[in-house]
Amino acid sequence: MLSSVHKIKRLIATVFIVLLSAAILSPPSLAADGKLTGVRGTFFDFIDDPWKHVGDEEASARFYADGLLVMDNGIIKDFGPYSELSSKYPGLEVTSIANRIITPGFVDGHVHFPQTRVLGAYGLQLLPWLEEWIFPEEMKYKDAAYAREGVKHYFDNMLSAGTTTVQDFGNSYKSAVDIFFDEASKRNMRVLCGVSGLDRSAPADYCVAPPQFYSDSKEMIQKWHRKGRNLYAITPRFAYGDSPELMAMCGKLHKEFPDCWVNTHVSENPTETRNAPLEHKCSDYLGCYEKYGLVGPKFTAGHGVWLSDNEIERLHKAGAAISFCPNSNTFLGSGLFRLGAVTDPRKRVRLTFGTDMGGGNSFSMINVLNQAYKVGLCNNTMLDGSVDPRWHDEAQAERNKLNAYRAFYSITLGGAEGLYLEKLIGNFNPGKEADFVALDWNAGPSSMRWHQSLICQKPATKKEAAQLLFGILAVGGDERCVDETWVMGKRLYKKGLTETSAVPGEEQR
Ligand code: GUN
Ligand code: ZN
Repeated sequence: MLSSVHKIKRLIATVFIVLLSAAILSPPSLAADGKLTGVRGTFFDFIDDPWKHVGDEEASARFYADGLLVMDNGIIKDFGPYSELSSKYPGLEVTSIANRIITPGFVDGHVHFPQTRVLGAYGLQLLPWLEEWIFPEEMKYKDAAYAREGVKHYFDNMLSAGTTTVQDFGNSYKSAVDIFFDEASKRNMRVLCGVSGLDRSAPADYCVAPPQFYSDSKEMIQKWHRKGRNLYAITPRFAYGDSPELMAMCGKLHKEFPDCWVNTHVSENPTETRNAPLEHKCSDYLGCYEKYGLVGPKFTAGHGVWLSDNEIERLHKAGAAISFCPNSNTFLGSGLFRLGAVTDPRKRVRLTFGTDMGGGNSFSMINVLNQAYKVGLCNNTMLDGSVDPRWHDEAQAERNKLNAYRAFYSITLGGAEGLYLEKLIGNFNPGKEADFVALDWNAGPSSMRWHQSLICQKPATKKEAAQLLFGILAVGGDERCVDETWVMGKRLYKKGLTETSAVPGEEQR
């Protein structure tokens, strides 16, 4: 009896030792759930907020001239210099991406998919623009075929612009939002979206009664929230177009589904900013959302051009975010966002940057950076004291300046932090989702080569890479600099190779 117990014990011990040595000796290239893959190239990402390192922004970034990213089923397993990592992964299937800077995928924190066909509409400010162009176009998305084609085109454009995460507004129809999530799932992209609540200041048959909005939102939350990479944002379109009853429904949804995000607009255009608080009997625009318990972590409001210092402080305290949309703010003539005010370390507000396409006239987050840089300098005309010495504020003026570190942080790790998604995306830390882009510092207009060759042929240091990145935003200026876009470890876009969905009417040409 004793000896058989002894035998069983020995057997268990032997099996344990065999399993343990197999685990230690077998190369990690053979993961339990499949093969590891790697990408070798020049990597640039962020480990901190550059506005915390004024004058030493380099400290916020990480750079490997020759790096290796190891992925397991789309999740980052390891990241470091190629010389240090490669021996740990013998037999690793490696894709080399030469002569490109690889950054995390871009985060577009504020965008409208049903406006894909009408970006760049001429000559109007927000309210007449909504009436003349936007609401009639969004209403066409009632037709499923029209919506499906528009949504495909939208995602194709996003990927070719290097954007891998979007927070989108949807429209008033749950059917269109359903198509959006379905298409995002096919591409396995990390997205947030919601049925956009609107029940005033819009065509009657585009308005949705508050109880209908509530039940449509609930159905979409139950169908899509945290299914795959999809996240649901409760979306009061804007307090100017939402009755107190509709806002109360948003508050109710937020209480019932506290895990969901909240996405809206605030203080974009002066007329809207003056009127929304009157309708909701609040002292300012932000108050219209606070009144219904919506402002806190995972709340984002787009624009914020006309926010007071007091509203900025309240956003900071609440842990809420603003989405800076410089293309839209200038294209619709809304105003100049005070980047230097919201990045004050004493009351730092979480930020995403957004295209706000179609109010913004581009899908490209690089183009957003290009415009954001100019907005910062326009603000500084006021702050440098040359207009009125009483407005002189050197520290705020310095924070307005969008150098390469602040810029690329804002559309990668900063965007992820704005959305409270930094545990999942935003940089190349192991455990995160492997979304990234390969940027070509020689693409764009022909002057790019001349400009960039003054800096270097190939970046060997973080500083050189940052200088090339600044050239990409200031001279290249858009999606022409995006050569490849990868989502969860798979290349979904390669310039010149990837087919994009047909443009309407193209087949007849
Ligand atoms: N406010 C309410 N709806 C919209 C919209 O579609 N675009 C912009 N820029 N602002 C809005
Ligand atoms: Zn918007």
